[in-house]
Amino acid sequence: MKIVMGADHGGYQLKNILRDHLTEQGHTVIDLGCQGERVDYPDYGQKVGETVAAGEADYGICVCGTGIGISIAVNKIPGIRAALCTNEYEAMMTRRHNDANVLVMGGRVIGEELAKDIARVFFSTEFEGGRHQKRIDKIAAIEAKYNR
Ligand code: RB5
Repeated sequence: MKIVMGADHGGYQLKNILRDHLTEQGHTVIDLGCQGERVDYPDYGQKVGETVAAGEADYGICVCGTGIGISIAVNKIPGIRAALCTNEYEAMMTRRHNDANVLVMGGRVIGEELAKDIARVFFSTEFEGGRHQKRIDKIAAIEAKYNR
């Protein structure tokens, strides 16, 4: 799987841990930064979201301090369904029901082993489709209405 990652200074340490872990697991990882310098999380959410929306990566991972700011930012990109996850159940359900294409975590919230487990579940769970596709289509319709 091709995964693009981005983080601010509140999330770069967890982002780097996940980058190395996912690379060891055989994934191809694009690391868009940062590497610890003080930056603004919307810039990194935007970069990750645009890369996924352009089809240049299968999925994205975003990390900031809480995960909240970068999650708000990346969800502004049309076609992005980013999910802030704090446990494996949320990671499983957001793939099954929301077809989430960006995983978001808080670097100051989640421990590294839990983050690895969340990522493992997220990237190994399929979208169920069916009745959930209709709901995804409704999200896309909201986007279309306001993106004119
Ligand atoms: C940066 O200090 C912090 O505000 C950011 O990482 C994030 O938590 C914002 O939601």
